Amino acid sequence: MKTENIRKDFPILIRKINGKRLVYLDSAATSQKPISVINAVKDFYENHNSNIHRSVYKLAEEATEIYENARRTVAEFIGAKTEEIIFVRNTTEALNLLAYAWAMRNIQKGDEVLITEMEHHSNILPWQMVCKAKGARLVYANIRNFVLDMKDFKNKLTKRTKLVSVTHSSNVLGTINDVKAIGRLAHDAGAVFVVDGAQAVPHMKVDVKDIDADFYAFSGHKMLGPHIGVLYGKKHILDKMEPFLRGGSMIKDVTQQDAVWNDVPWKFEAGTPMIAEAAGLGEAVKYLNALGMDNVRKHEIQLTEYCLKRMKEVAGIDVYGPESGRGGVISFNLGKVHPHDVSAILDNDGVCIRGGHHCAKPLMHALGVDAVSRASVYIYSDRDDIDVFIKALGKANEKLGD
Ligand code: ALA
Repeated sequence: MKTENIRKDFPILIRKINGKRLVYLDSAATSQKPISVINAVKDFYENHNSNIHRSVYKLAEEATEIYENARRTVAEFIGAKTEEIIFVRNTTEALNLLAYAWAMRNIQKGDEVLITEMEHHSNILPWQMVCKAKGARLVYANIRNFVLDMKDFKNKLTKRTKLVSVTHSSNVLGTINDVKAIGRLAHDAGAVFVVDGAQAVPHMKVDVKDIDADFYAFSGHKMLGPHIGVLYGKKHILDKMEPFLRGGSMIKDVTQQDAVWNDVPWKFEAGTPMIAEAAGLGEAVKYLNALGMDNVRKHEIQLTEYCLKRMKEVAGIDVYGPESGRGGVISFNLGKVHPHDVSAILDNDGVCIRGGHHCAKPLMHALGVDAVSRASVYIYSDRDDIDVFIKALGKANEKLGD
């Protein structure tokens, strides 16, 4: 995988920020887009724009085909059946869909939902809502040394646990969870198993059947695509579920007092969906397939190792995350300097990193901090980016350190 060739596919990377080369190290928040994805969206609006699943004319048929082809491409990418792919807005919406359409109907008083301390708010707040409404208990498995404490997880997995929902890869620690093993334990306990894959699908080969997830959620915009998300669900579970949103397109019949739902996946796609965005996501998957997900992962391992090594040169830095078995997300603090100040200083050198609680406040509490700075790499990131980042960190230290 030649990063210098990849970089040419990303128009934004020629931009200058404050007169400096753009060093984009915030791909965990959203990835940049290659020209093929941008062109797919443009082509949709220029040549095929119409609504889908409704009209019998050529343009609408083309739009429908583009949308459904994108679903097929995404399904193949994660080893799912086409009808098991539901297009949503993002991972957050996917998990909320599950909370309303599955959990609110299946979780009862006295039940437990088991998650981990390293979850994003998207994988916490929907379950808080369900547990409060149903008189159930939200249970957190602890982390230890930045990884999931499996002993604690096993202790907290009981016959009361009806749902287990864990992140595949932490958006703060970079920790990659062994979701296959966790899923096996969850199923042995009789629980439904949900995976938040927002930080995993863009970065490694994911096979939802191999993991045996009942549901798996991820976001297209973190994997080179536009702002669209995906919920995978096992068909036999989706078939039994009630819809989340009700409206156009998701029915077979409607009478004054009743309705018959459409088949999956359309039962879960009420209203006009994100058609151009789906077209873009299909192209994004093709781009990643052409690179090969094993190569994507290899590149990130090498670059993350390089970055972690170079960060040791920075005085007073604390890194939050495991040394290995991790993704390309590196969180840190420079002494007591607030991460917003670190981000602002780095911005002067064209370096984009994120600082804050990263929508993971329970994790911040577990780490004993209010906020962290986070650099995150992707396929277009290279050693030059890391070198500029390290130099800028040195400057921030001089300017802000005590
Ligand atoms: N969930 C995204 C992040 O971690 C936005 O930055």
